[in-house]
Amino acid sequence: MSEQLSEKFKEVLDLREKAKLGGGTEAIEKQHKGGKLTARERIEKLVDKGSFVEVDQFVVHRCYDFDMEKKKALGDAVVTGYATVDGRPVFIYSQDFTFVGGSLSEMHAKKITKIQDMALKAGAPVIGLNDSGGARIQEGINSLAGYGEIFYRNVQASGVIPQIIAIMGPCAGGAVYSPALADFIFMVRKTSYMFITGPKVVKAAIGEDVSFEVLGGADSHTKLSGVAHFACENDEDCIKQIKTLLSYLPSNNMDDAPIIECADPPDRADEELNEVVPADPKKPYDVHDVINHVFDKGSFYEVQPNFAMNAVVGFARLNGRSVGVVANQPMIYAGCLDIDSSDKIARFVRTCDAFNIPLVTFVDVPGYLPGTKQEHGGVIRHGAKVIYAYSEATVPKLTVIMRKSYGGGYIAMCSRHLGADVVFAYPTAEIAVMGPQEAIEIIHRNELMKAKTPEEAKEIISRLVADYKNKFANPYVASQLGYVDAVILPKETRSALTKALEALITKRELSSRIPKKHGNLPA
Ligand code: HXC
Repeated sequence: MSEQLSEKFKEVLDLREKAKLGGGTEAIEKQHKGGKLTARERIEKLVDKGSFVEVDQFVVHRCYDFDMEKKKALGDAVVTGYATVDGRPVFIYSQDFTFVGGSLSEMHAKKITKIQDMALKAGAPVIGLNDSGGARIQEGINSLAGYGEIFYRNVQASGVIPQIIAIMGPCAGGAVYSPALADFIFMVRKTSYMFITGPKVVKAAIGEDVSFEVLGGADSHTKLSGVAHFACENDEDCIKQIKTLLSYLPSNNMDDAPIIECADPPDRADEELNEVVPADPKKPYDVHDVINHVFDKGSFYEVQPNFAMNAVVGFARLNGRSVGVVANQPMIYAGCLDIDSSDKIARFVRTCDAFNIPLVTFVDVPGYLPGTKQEHGGVIRHGAKVIYAYSEATVPKLTVIMRKSYGGGYIAMCSRHLGADVVFAYPTAEIAVMGPQEAIEIIHRNELMKAKTPEEAKEIISRLVADYKNKFANPYVASQLGYVDAVILPKETRSALTKALEALITKRELSSRIPKKHGNLPA
């Protein structure tokens, strides 16, 4: 090789090494001391070994204000590129906090939008690993413009490719809206936070003292606000969980999720499941026990496990196929729907529908939670989202009515009337306008008022309740009308669902028979 050629080769190799240093060794050490991996280490752990191809490694900012021309780093605080995870292509950007706090400049934003565009064209998931002080203050409007371009692409890609964002450091101000527009948000405990305005501004504006962690840490957002879906122990755990989530998702909305070979027999009759749902409608039980008995062993991956826990949602597999599971949780608020659980269910149903993931719904719902807090908080408009999402969904929709299925809850939880393809009911199912006691107190009010003593009233109530239960609190009226396709024993659930799913896997349906721009989702 000529000397001139080898010099040119050396130049590029040197530049590559320089780029790898980001903000320098001292800043990298600080990052590690803070319990965080660097942007590159995170990518390495996420992708298949040797598969990462970096894009725009030599990009630098072009700001001349505030002496910024003296402060440059190759890559400009974000590492971008493509790779494979479990053999499937993904597009990645990973913000590098070691250079100017991972802040977002015009060129930094251009790198991210290039990756978003590539991912959308290729039909592959885009994964953002966020660790940034937000808009690069020295760049002013250019950095705001950058955020706007990112948000616009988040919306364009919504429902086309999975968008997954992990918050692995700060994420403040308007920067939170890119994650908020994505499909899933992961947060790392203790090292990440998200908020519109930080503790200092909160103190100045309203005099409230609050820590970073309480205001916008992983636990606050996965338990209270519902902004984030998964809280992780550290960076490694976060990356492991991103891979788990990816395994349930297709690469895009025209694709199907991968089928994972399954050792669990699809027709396994589960005797233990017969004992899980109590006949007494007032007795609580943990719906996880139903879910874990029905789906492929160990396959349930819960989404938002600590938020609105009166509903359970998550991914599982049925004979190797990815499904979205929605269930009422009788252990919390007796499984009632409320504002938060409605949002949680509706969002999950729409996510599954967008990505061709069939839905399996387990029903044990006394109705919507009563009270002024719920009414004034807008339970009507939030509850409407569940009805909208199920009605709009065109993936195979399988429903199992386990026990209570009363009133609006019956309709909303993927009833036949909202387009369920198959509805099963257990012998313990009670499908009625409302619970027996409440119904009797309304329709027999006059008769009850005639009772001379409380004992007499009690006796009348118990007679009428027994009569009402006989008439309505069972699955047979609904099955006589064809609203329930079959009454099954709990132990038959796995086999029945697997067969239904296989029969319906080729389902094709338009979400609307009338051409329209888009519907008007209740908000
Ligand atoms: C430019 C920034 C920066 C920013 C941090 N840095 N954020 N530079 N623009 N937004 C720089 C710091 O000056 C410092 O540079 C280096 O990054 C590391 O930051 P530290 O403060 O030393 O780190 P730490 O103590 O860990 O604190 C991190 C932080 C803090 C909490 C994120 O840096 C901070 O409060 N930054 C400002 C956050 C902010 O208000 N951003 C704007 C939000 S509004 P040196 O040279 O000292 O190493 C927004 C609008 C977006 O983003 C709108 C979109 C629609």
